[in-house]
Amino acid sequence: MIKTVSYENGILTILDQSKLPEKVEYLRCHTPEEVADAILDLKVRGAPLIGVTAAYALALGMVNYHGNNKIEYFEKIYNLLASTRPTAVNLFWAINRIKKIFLENSSLDNTKLANILINEVNKMFKEDINTNKLIGEHGEKLLNLNSKVLTICNAGALATCGYGTALGVIRTGFRENKIKNVWACETRPVLQGSRLTVWELLEDNIPVTLITDSMAAYIMSLEKVDAVIVGADRIAANGDTANKIGTYSLAIAAHYHSIPFYVAAPTSTIDLTLTSGTLIPIEQRNADEIRQLANYPITHQDVEVFNPSFDVTPNEFITAIICEKGIIKKPFKQEIINFMGEEE
Ligand code: MRU
Repeated sequence: MIKTVSYENGILTILDQSKLPEKVEYLRCHTPEEVADAILDLKVRGAPLIGVTAAYALALGMVNYHGNNKIEYFEKIYNLLASTRPTAVNLFWAINRIKKIFLENSSLDNTKLANILINEVNKMFKEDINTNKLIGEHGEKLLNLNSKVLTICNAGALATCGYGTALGVIRTGFRENKIKNVWACETRPVLQGSRLTVWELLEDNIPVTLITDSMAAYIMSLEKVDAVIVGADRIAANGDTANKIGTYSLAIAAHYHSIPFYVAAPTSTIDLTLTSGTLIPIEQRNADEIRQLANYPITHQDVEVFNPSFDVTPNEFITAIICEKGIIKKPFKQEIINFMGEEE
């Protein structure tokens, strides 16, 4: 399976997803600032992967820090990384986990402290893959044999440390003869669906058909979709889910056609501090993502653009949330508390 991120000897190596599928190219980052830029530029993306990569960036910062005010320096790089992608709650979950370990061990010398941080992130990396495999096992049970499923964006191995969430369910499902075909929405404007999901599924010989986002409702009306499976960037305490822009429209269309709509995500994507999805911060991105296609101008260069990177699907349109602990069903508010409560 392709490596999305890896750390060795003071260098963080990141698969540059902005180059896919044309080139498999790796970026070598030496500083937290370089990693923050890679996250901002979507060279590394997908909520769980953003989290682990940012955690590595903090550890990397400490590996290469030789000054005598490490608390101030840590705070500075923490704030920088926290400012990169506001919607993906896994980012905050991951950097807060590292911050806690940092503070608990801040009296140690720099080398010992840096080693502890690197070991913790290596642990998070392995945990993420295990989590995704469990999501795959639970989610596969929701599918009938030979299902035709539809997904958006890329919630796959490329968006995680490996295996994927929504694509993790599809991967395990394919192995169990549950998947006949995957409809991949291209996912305007950054095309994570056509560039990444198609590439990733074809690498694994999973049958995939590419569509533009606007074709989804029509394909549902033709009874060619048995389930919709998507990832998540943040799930509020009531089950409302922020995911790639276009997810909400898919959920409404699935509801209209009585097609089950599943969100696959680790419990680290659930934000119990937010009572509803209206409170989830939605990242606004650069206008040129819409004004241009592969750096080629496709409209007036100064036209006003609205470019929210995510939308929020109200819980009423979600059939179930698939996490590593099992299937969270309705009523979400109570069930989410039950699932998260088991964590302590
Ligand atoms: O802007 P991106 O590419 O980071 O958006 C990614 C998504 O919306 C994914 O569905 C989500 O992060 C879950 S990835 C397992």
